Amino acid sequence: MTARLLLLLLLLLAPAAALADRGLDLEIGKALFERLWVEAPASTRAADGLGPLYNARSCAACHPAAGRGRPPAGDDPEDQGIGFAIRLGNDPVYGRQVQIHGVTGHTAEGRVAATWQDEKVAFPDGHVVVLRRPTFTVTGLGFGPITAAVSARVAPPVRGMGALEAIPEAAILALADPEDRDGDGVSGRAARVPAPGGGMALGRFGRKASHATLESQDSDAFFLDIGMSTPLHRDPWGDCTPTQTACRAAPHGDQPQFGGLEIPGEVLALVDGYLRALPPPGDRKPEGEGAALFTATGCAACHTPRFDTGQFDTGGGPVHPYSDLLLHDMGPDLADGLDEPGGTGAEWRTAPLWGLNRLAADEGRLALLHDGRARGVEEAILWHGGEAARARERYRGLSRADRDRLLRFLRSL
Ligand code: HEC
Ligand code: HEC
Repeated sequence: MTARLLLLLLLLLAPAAALADRGLDLEIGKALFERLWVEAPASTRAADGLGPLYNARSCAACHPAAGRGRPPAGDDPEDQGIGFAIRLGNDPVYGRQVQIHGVTGHTAEGRVAATWQDEKVAFPDGHVVVLRRPTFTVTGLGFGPITAAVSARVAPPVRGMGALEAIPEAAILALADPEDRDGDGVSGRAARVPAPGGGMALGRFGRKASHATLESQDSDAFFLDIGMSTPLHRDPWGDCTPTQTACRAAPHGDQPQFGGLEIPGEVLALVDGYLRALPPPGDRKPEGEGAALFTATGCAACHTPRFDTGQFDTGGGPVHPYSDLLLHDMGPDLADGLDEPGGTGAEWRTAPLWGLNRLAADEGRLALLHDGRARGVEEAILWHGGEAARARERYRGLSRADRDRLLRFLRSL
């Protein structure tokens, strides 16, 4: 065979080989997302390094089927929710999150619980909705009192991350109106957060848009939730502070062949790649009738129905997140008083609404909003305040028929 023929053959075969590799990478990425990490030292050193203090042993434990979590139900003291975490504003003892588990011989930082208070909201036409206002508590504190700000978070769904990543930065910035120059009551601020490579960048991921890249978000998850080090968080003891000496002194899973890390860059990249390739969850064509009401009521001012992207690798073309990825002040009821690199006290990133159709069957038992307090779409709307207060009031003023149309539309996204 001549060298030219060999080259030709290689070129012809290369795309197929690359495709097969990609398929394999996604399988491995999925397995890593579902993998139950174990405490160090274990016989399979590639799977150890959990904790010593941690919230869950796998990504999938908090994002079941790449979906969302829920808060504690409140009627069973054993129930600490699923994918539910108490974030902290950098507590000197507890760090950035309350870890509810410890490996053998290590005390958990505490247990999380919720109590719920019913509150009625009446509409001008007599319709009544019962909201449940949460009080979240941490009991059995292992290291004395918590002194930092406390914020309850439920794991959001993690489908469509590649699509969010592919939205051009300029398109997001074009929607920002931090001074509310157009006077519509809706401002919207772009998050500027530290970029993994240095400098500042647009924040897109997380409930307060505190992460510029999927790599940074996923690295934070390994570190904070599972207690494992990555190239972006090199300490093997996760969120343990200098005061938590037993945790820091415990055996860890960092290994020389992994560059002194528990999760080397290649492993992190496989998890990122798996999430990036999961298609957005809005897999049906939404019902047309309520779309105009969605805009007229003011929902679309934040829940942007569509962006064009050139380079989205799970299909290309437009994406339909129903979010502007900007931060909005949502008023005192939703405020948590915790400042992050992205959003501050009352600010939240507009929650994407794609995929609500997957939840329609569970309406009334859902866990919407950052802490999962809303059991359905209508409850979620009624908690909107701050910049979204006008839209909420317009919704309350709609006729029953129009409200039903709008709700049907939302449940079809
Ligand atoms: C203890 C539960 C828990 C575990 C374990 C967990 N997560 Fe999460 N995840 C959350 C919570 C809570 C949030 C929201 C955080 C916030 O407030 O920004 C989140 C947010 C995310 C987001 C951002 C989604 C968006 O819309 O911007 C991604 C991506 C993500 N997690 C990926 C992962 C990966 C990958 C792992 C495993 C390495 C993981 N998570 C493990 C609870 C968890
Ligand atoms: C000023 C911006 C803004 C406007 C206007 C707005 N929203 Fe939202 N919406 C948000 C933000 C921010 C969140 C996330 C709040 C949180 O997590 O606590 C959210 C969350 C939601 C959720 C919960 C989604 C989930 O997965 O948890 C629903 C449903 C929703 N909005 C529907 C609507 C509807 C319907 C309207 C119009 C009546 C509307 N929103 C108007 C900003 C807005």
